[in-house]
Amino acid sequence: MTKKIDFTVNGKPMSVSLDNEETPLLNVLRNELGLMGTRFGCGLEQCGCCMVLIDGQPEKCCTKPVSSVAGKTITTIEGLGTPAHPHPLQQAFIDGQAGQCGYCLSGILISAKALLERNLSPTRAEIAQALDDNICRCGSHNRIMRAVEKAAAQMRLGAQS
Ligand code: FES
Ligand code: FES
Repeated sequence: MTKKIDFTVNGKPMSVSLDNEETPLLNVLRNELGLMGTRFGCGLEQCGCCMVLIDGQPEKCCTKPVSSVAGKTITTIEGLGTPAHPHPLQQAFIDGQAGQCGYCLSGILISAKALLERNLSPTRAEIAQALDDNICRCGSHNRIMRAVEKAAAQMRLGAQS
């Protein structure tokens, strides 16, 4: 039987009707809602490519049943910023060329956003811990860490002005 599930994605109320409410949220975001920025990597909650914010918390969504997010608020990479108005994290990653293939970056930016929401002055160790669930196979970790530090500095400046 078709089941209707309501939730909010990137500030907009959304509704999907599915025969299988166990369908992973990642599939729904990509295939039903056309939000292709969140990536499928391992499909086993191991790589962090599929990280989204659910009620502000970073969570992998490749195995999370869509029924479990009914009534919740989801932020995907598309909700961070736009090409015309990028989030400071996105701008810092662009400026620092902080990726190689870029496949991991949606998940990394989501984890970094969650970190900077709670801590605008993270240490290197705190950044590494926040990104611990995100694998970058290209080994761009140093540039990624520097970009998060740069975005945090930029956001601190913005908070002062
Ligand atoms: S695709 Fe979800 S953790 Fe790898
Ligand atoms: S930039 Fe290629 S996996 Fe991270």
